[in-house]
Amino acid sequence: MSLSAATLKQQVGIAAAQRVQSGMVVGLGTGSTTAFAIEELGRRLASGELKDIIGIPTSFQAIGLGKKFGIPIRSLDDVTEIDLAIDGADEVDPHKNLIKGGGAAHTREKVVDALAQQFIVVVDQSKLVDRLGSTFPVPVEVLPMAVAPVTRAIVALGGKPELRLAVKKDGPVITDQGNMVLDVTFSQIDDPKSLEMTLNNIPGVLENGLFVGLADIILVGEAQDDQPIVREIS
Ligand code: 5RP
Repeated sequence: MSLSAATLKQQVGIAAAQRVQSGMVVGLGTGSTTAFAIEELGRRLASGELKDIIGIPTSFQAIGLGKKFGIPIRSLDDVTEIDLAIDGADEVDPHKNLIKGGGAAHTREKVVDALAQQFIVVVDQSKLVDRLGSTFPVPVEVLPMAVAPVTRAIVALGGKPELRLAVKKDGPVITDQGNMVLDVTFSQIDDPKSLEMTLNNIPGVLENGLFVGLADIILVGEAQDDQPIVREIS
């Protein structure tokens, strides 16, 4: 019997939430793995094991889950620092560089994750890759009026951009900030840092999903002898 991805995500989400201490300001990431961490934070608060934490959300999803599980939610106007951020990823390379944005939340995620004293990434083993871009395109958030010129600029860089379409709505995905997302496939990403900067330098691009040099710790949910284990890469 093999363990489901959901089981591995749950284990790793719980493991990350266990690292939060009373009084901390915690960045609340977005996605199905982080959702388990937020739920565990709520459980620890309700049991009295954890006190006085504040959650800084990275999306409407994180706001909703934080409220649902009883975590006091504040904005970046209310805090001067973030102690620890917990967030998922779509790909993780051997240098702890990431592709994020599967949930189109990478712009706010990068703001919050980059401000954290410690940024913990929570993934199941399927997210580990030798090279970024091998299983997942790079999401690029774009101002709606600039989609056509940004598309041309990305093609000129050698990328294949595709406008992300919504699932339960006709037309494009609209981000929490009211923008659109181009999912860009590159045949090979040799220098993620330089590509991250080059993409962000195109007028009309808000942010892209390459997170280079930001992650401190990767917690990986893995199956070992049919049991879930959490491996730390630091
Ligand atoms: C959202 C993200 C997510 O963290 C990423 O897509 C991973 O999601 P999941 O934990 O559901 O696999 O970057 O923008």
